[in-house]
Amino acid sequence: MSRSVVILGIQWGDEGKGKVVDMLTEHADAVVRFQGGHNAGHTIVVEGQQTILHLVPSGILHDGVECLIGNGVVLAPDALQEEITMLDGKGVQVTGRLRVSPACPVIMPYHVLLDLAKERKQGKAAIGTTGRGIGPAYEDKVSRRGMRVADLFDESYCNRRLEEVVDFHNFVLREYFGSDTVDLQEMKDLCRGYAEVLAPLLGDVSARIHMLREARKNILFEGAQGTLLDIDHGTYPFVTSSNTLAGGACAGSGSGPDVIDHVLGVVKAYTTRVGGGPFPTELFDDVGRHLAERGNEFGATTGRARRCGWLDASALRHAVRINGVKGLCVTKLDVLDGLDTIKICTGYTHEGHPFDPMVMDGQAFSQCQPVYLEMEGWHRSTSGTTKMSDLPKQARAYLDKIHELSGVQLDLVSTGPDRCHNIVCNEVY
Ligand code: IMP
Repeated sequence: MSRSVVILGIQWGDEGKGKVVDMLTEHADAVVRFQGGHNAGHTIVVEGQQTILHLVPSGILHDGVECLIGNGVVLAPDALQEEITMLDGKGVQVTGRLRVSPACPVIMPYHVLLDLAKERKQGKAAIGTTGRGIGPAYEDKVSRRGMRVADLFDESYCNRRLEEVVDFHNFVLREYFGSDTVDLQEMKDLCRGYAEVLAPLLGDVSARIHMLREARKNILFEGAQGTLLDIDHGTYPFVTSSNTLAGGACAGSGSGPDVIDHVLGVVKAYTTRVGGGPFPTELFDDVGRHLAERGNEFGATTGRARRCGWLDASALRHAVRINGVKGLCVTKLDVLDGLDTIKICTGYTHEGHPFDPMVMDGQAFSQCQPVYLEMEGWHRSTSGTTKMSDLPKQARAYLDKIHELSGVQLDLVSTGPDRCHNIVCNEVY
């Protein structure tokens, strides 16, 4: 029987999805990206060798696995080309295994200029974006102004669209932001080059997924960013510009909801966030520094230091509900080794009263004070553990508490960066 699994981050991203996708790809025939763009940074370690992927689905490191980029992804052709070259250099064959939907919106240099100019103008209120032009590219898609991959292949149509869109954005860049502008002819030439890069990769992703299902193949949908960065259900406006939820896998790949058999939520044993926005359980003390150092919490895309804090079980329950999460993968358990006490946030207060935000947006979250449950820590190393029975009893109690508070079974526990550093509780495939 074929099985399709959506794997997604259920915090603010950087939960360690890349490793989990890579590991489960052993059982998959195809891996699909359905939202976001090269703002994502998925780190995979195979036999000690690290690869960071931004756009190409993490399944590429497994021979023979098909990789699909669905229409929900905003595509930067130059970033894709760079990644393909990097993979070629490592002896990973991409051509013939990667298909890109012609309906993907194209990220152009003016999107990057707009992203950076907007952040500059916001000053202290900036979102802290990755500066990759993601938001402006999605804005163009929704305003029906954007260029799609398919448009690149009809030169006169492409040029006509560029004339309008470049005129519009140059006006905004110059007059509103006082920023540099782009040259129309350069954009036209760039699009010719983009068409050349993308021509061998085009494919009908939706139809391909349908064919794979008919042929009883296993498919893995790889989420990027995380649930609390979802444009509708995250800590708005401190979010990314796509739907990062499991539901996004359907719209972003051209599949019906019946295509999803299982939703695996990836949750770090603590919490991190990159960029601005509220974070109720954030730590500014030695424990926060312990998590940052031991967890090597630096962004895979921008190299920025990630903010660190305790696990927020209240946000976790919210994420479980809105994604229909059926199983959890707890990552980076070993980072908690050596702490005397571990805290979990179970709810919030506001001005001394219990507080249950109706919408978990940035405004509500900024008013929350966490309520903590304290648990005993452990002083033995859990790094690389592969059996639940080998974990210290305090670590097992911590995992049991996550199960109890989330109401979801644990499928996997990751205890180190390598493919083999895992405890398998339930087979996902
Ligand atoms: P954008 O996606 O570049 O527009 O950035 C919007 C917000 O999402 C910022 O707070 C970024 O730090 C965050 N973000 C975007 N991509 C990732 C990711 O892959 N991991 C973690 N945070 C991300």
